[in-house]
Amino acid sequence: MVEAGDLTYRPADGADINTMWEIDQLCFDSDLAYPEDVFYFHLLVNRDPAFVAQDKAGKIAGFVMTAWEGRGTGAIVTIDVVERWRGLGVGTKLMGVAESALAGRGAKKLTLQTSVNNDVAIRFYEKLGYVRKKRIRDYYVTGRDAFLFEKLASDREALIRQAPQKGKKFGSPP
Ligand SMILES: CC(C)(COP(=O)(O)OP(=O)(O)OC[C@H]1O[C@@H](n2cnc3c(N)ncnc32)[C@H](O)[C@@H]1OP(=O)(O)O)[C@@H](O)C(=O)NCCC(=O)NCCS
Repeated sequence: MVEAGDLTYRPADGADINTMWEIDQLCFDSDLAYPEDVFYFHLLVNRDPAFVAQDKAGKIAGFVMTAWEGRGTGAIVTIDVVERWRGLGVGTKLMGVAESALAGRGAKKLTLQTSVNNDVAIRFYEKLGYVRKKRIRDYYVTGRDAFLFEKLASDREALIRQAPQKGKKFGSPP
């Protein structure tokens, strides 16, 4: 278990699924949000590592879901931080936990997709060292395009370089 500031970072379990899905519904338009069964599939069927940031009251402040794509490639399925907790380094911390889990499984490459319209997520991933590889036409059900991002395991120093600096509030209550 990793702890930072007032949040605790821990593996997600089956009891978290409904809350994670509800947070995802708040974070994304219906045409971009995953159906609930995707959460069940990753967490309960595939047992892919996922992690939540939890406050002192036990409420989930954010989560990240991963998947294993084979041939040394790990994926970030999604990352959601509850709005009032954003901008405090929670997303960065969750990505670090997810990347460590995927690296521990042998990932040499990390991959993810995000909507071409999601400017905040694009800046977030680029700051963490992800590189935009290509545009995927009609990636989402309603036909919206996505960017494919990749990061090599050897680029993890980029994440370390971007870790919150000394003195910056990190995961403190908003
Ligand atoms: C994207 C998201 C996970 C970022 O989480 P977060 O905890 O707010 O991110 P952090 O505080 O760790 O920010 C890290 C960096 O990302 C970038 N960033 C984060 N929020 C940003 C914003 N609103 N505008 C511009 N850049 C932003 C900045 O470079 C920031 O570094 P800085 O604080 O030194 O400027 C969060 O905004 C979110 O949940 N959004 C809705 C769901 C979503 O779009 N998820 C991505 C799915 S593909």
